[in-house]
Amino acid sequence: MAPRGPRGAFFGERGMRDISEALAALDAEATAALESAADEAALEQVRVRYLGRKGALAAILRALVDLDPAQRPAIGKCANDVKQRLEAALTARREALLAAARSAAESAHVDVTLPGRPIPMGRLHPSTQILRRICQIFADMGFQIYRSPDVETEEMNFELLNIPAYHPARDMWDTFYTTEEGILLRTHTSPGQIRAMRESWPHPIRVILPGMCYRYEQITARSEIQFHQVEGLAVGRHVTMTDLKGTLVSFAHRMFGAERRARFRASHFPFTEPSAEMDVECILCEGAGCALCKQTGWLEILGCGMVHPTVLQNGGYDPMAYSGFAFGMGPERITMLKHRIEDIRYFWTNDLRFLEQF
Ligand code: PHE
Repeated sequence: MAPRGPRGAFFGERGMRDISEALAALDAEATAALESAADEAALEQVRVRYLGRKGALAAILRALVDLDPAQRPAIGKCANDVKQRLEAALTARREALLAAARSAAESAHVDVTLPGRPIPMGRLHPSTQILRRICQIFADMGFQIYRSPDVETEEMNFELLNIPAYHPARDMWDTFYTTEEGILLRTHTSPGQIRAMRESWPHPIRVILPGMCYRYEQITARSEIQFHQVEGLAVGRHVTMTDLKGTLVSFAHRMFGAERRARFRASHFPFTEPSAEMDVECILCEGAGCALCKQTGWLEILGCGMVHPTVLQNGGYDPMAYSGFAFGMGPERITMLKHRIEDIRYFWTNDLRFLEQF
């Protein structure tokens, strides 16, 4: 630093040389320090050290007062140039550091070449989808949807459907009984027929009854302890077997395709007389015979028949004046046939690999 002393040519000369040298040294040193500052904090340190209020440049500027007034403007201008150059360099360095930090952060967080993250989308369970399709087809034919309870009385599930306790047909339905005497989980949706009739008498009926059924069975690829059924019931004057066949063939065409043939085979149910089972042409081999249809060319899809007079009577309808038809189908079975699903257990296992296919 320039010595304080009486102003004069000599002192002035020396002082000026000292200050010029000090400025040049400071310029070089500060520029190098700015260049090597690696981050914002280091940069700030450099700024304070050289350009701050108590920094090196400020100290030099204070020394100007000792100079010959005649020399002050020249050296003052020089000092200001240094100051401006350093400030510009500081700003440039700060921007360069910021830009580098920004692009580093961007490349760390956003890799535009990564595949997008899939948004998990919920959807309807395959059973719900097929139930809705079945309901829609029958709604188009004028059937209303009627709900009846899963927990039923033994009387509704069996007796009123013409299945007395001693009847061998009870063997067809293995049953979950509750601890309450005479209360069980329905083994089929058919008890809903009695409920629908008792509520509708004496009006004509055209309803379907979708719902869950339960059977006390060994769970295998072909049988579950719970599954859906869709029951159908039409009661009125002059309802005939022709109506039954027409309705169900029309359903099969809408469900499986208009070109698909259907057939009725004689069968037995205690609550229908006569009884039948309906088959559709195998959807896989189209009737030629394959493993799915066990070489028969046909797939059984539902049971049906004309409502038994005793059942009509139990529902409150006079069998001499009224007649009706009924049918029952298993939506899971239909889904299995449509999509060639080989194991019914997939439906309630909640395995997303299965469910996501629908
Ligand atoms: N309830 C019968 C079953 O579970 C199906 C059926 C319903 C048959 C209505 C005839 C009429 O197998």
